[in-house]
Amino acid sequence: MGYYVTTPIYYVNAEPHLGHAYTTIAADVLARHMRQRGEDVFFLTGTDEHGEPVAQAAEREGVGPRELADRNSEHFRELVARLNITNDFFIRTSDPRHEAAVQKVLQSVYDRGYVYKGLYEGWYCPRCADFKTDAELVEGNRCPIHLIELEREQEENYFFKLSEFQDQLERLYAERTDFVVPGIRYNEAVSFVKQGLQDVSLTRARLRWGVPVPWDESHVFYVWFDALLNYYTALSFAREGEDLTARFWPATVHLIGKDILKFHTVFWPALLLAAGLELPERIYVHGYLLMDEHKMSKSLGNVIDPFEVSDVFGVDALRYYLLAAVNFGHDGSVSTEDFEARYTAELANEYGNLAGRTIAMIARYRDGVVPHADPDAELVALFGGAQHRLRARFDAVELTAALQDIWQLVRGLNRYLQEHAPWQLAKDASAADRLDSILYGVAEGLRVVSVLVHPFLPDASMRLLRALGRDSLALEGAELGQVRGGATVEELEPLFPRVERAEA
Ligand code: ME8
Ligand code: MG
Repeated sequence: MGYYVTTPIYYVNAEPHLGHAYTTIAADVLARHMRQRGEDVFFLTGTDEHGEPVAQAAEREGVGPRELADRNSEHFRELVARLNITNDFFIRTSDPRHEAAVQKVLQSVYDRGYVYKGLYEGWYCPRCADFKTDAELVEGNRCPIHLIELEREQEENYFFKLSEFQDQLERLYAERTDFVVPGIRYNEAVSFVKQGLQDVSLTRARLRWGVPVPWDESHVFYVWFDALLNYYTALSFAREGEDLTARFWPATVHLIGKDILKFHTVFWPALLLAAGLELPERIYVHGYLLMDEHKMSKSLGNVIDPFEVSDVFGVDALRYYLLAAVNFGHDGSVSTEDFEARYTAELANEYGNLAGRTIAMIARYRDGVVPHADPDAELVALFGGAQHRLRARFDAVELTAALQDIWQLVRGLNRYLQEHAPWQLAKDASAADRLDSILYGVAEGLRVVSVLVHPFLPDASMRLLRALGRDSLALEGAELGQVRGGATVEELEPLFPRVERAEA
């Protein structure tokens, strides 16, 4: 069975920001790691282009929704390329192949008796594309997320019989306690279901920008149903002339932020059950990136530009920072000060300098050839079981813990080098064997660390592996002592150079 990982598809109502970069990087880290394990991986990301969020933004800008979608979708694609993301496909929901597939699935939901016509009356936030209960509103009938004043709507819609899935969803959550992780999000999903499920609008009559409803062309599908189905439809047309559905469905993991929990943990499984399709294995819900205690969001305008950060510090540094600084799964604050501090202390000093010094010593003391010797018991102990611990971390999607485990190895190598001071031994001809062992151990340790950390730092780790003359990324090979000495090292430009910045 393949390993299929997805990100949310992002709204094209505005420019991409760091929050979007975050989920996409996390998914890329997972995908790269699984490929290193030899898994058959499919990694999907893309853009959500229909519905009020996009239609209204286009109206505000005085352009058509398709024009806005084309323009901003391109910017999301540029971000993906800039972040060194290895997605296998980029889906756009305005793609006619997606639209046709949505119509087919939702027609089958209709044919199976899960749709009826009714009157919706209540609150609707066009920015969230979400219906709100009275209890959810804040002071002045405003959306709790966007703080805009909401209209009370009355509209004839087709409804999806979500309430019919009450028992099945309760059973799903009782039987599969890891369907939603982490546990705190699982509990939220369960309590949402336990409150009692209400039927939801499946279509919108007032809106034109969406997928037409095949049994009533005066409606379009409510954007969330169209959007959720991207995970399924993409497999049918991502490869010209090939249907990947049997190979990759059901999805292994949907990565999402906690803002869209209800849609993915309640609507999505119910919709799949209604369509007679298999449910994904897992939904992993991460927290918010915060700036000064607030959720970073385009509506609030408190955003860090991922393009700018990458231009100044490099993409690897951004990838590393987001997963190191915020405990994956939880909310966490980010700031440019913290970024710069970690860049210098962790990337430039702990990893970059260690790499630079090791290569330089091998060049200088051993004519550029990695010696071979048995590594010290101390290093063997430090690295023992590392690869297997890392696999377990990734199976649990504990990305920050995975990175911390790897960094323990980086710090251990630094300590080892400091304690054994090969630059002292190099002055003493009788210590040649000892020096061989230390240089080999550190070079081999760096090789293993670089294989393990590759998903987080794809560029720097690869440059170092090449400089060490050993560039296999196979995770199986990440065992200390598995690769013998004898490789010729190459010169290495600093992995994380000092950044000179003009003050803004
Ligand atoms: O909700 N911290 O799109 P969207 C962490 N189109 N992650 C963040 C974030 C933050 N401050 N801000 C955004 C939609 N994200 C729908 C999804 S899926 C079938 C349809 C990330 O553009 C996070 O992954 O509002 C969040 O769930 C997503 O962007 C929302 O992106
Ligand atoms: Mg949003």
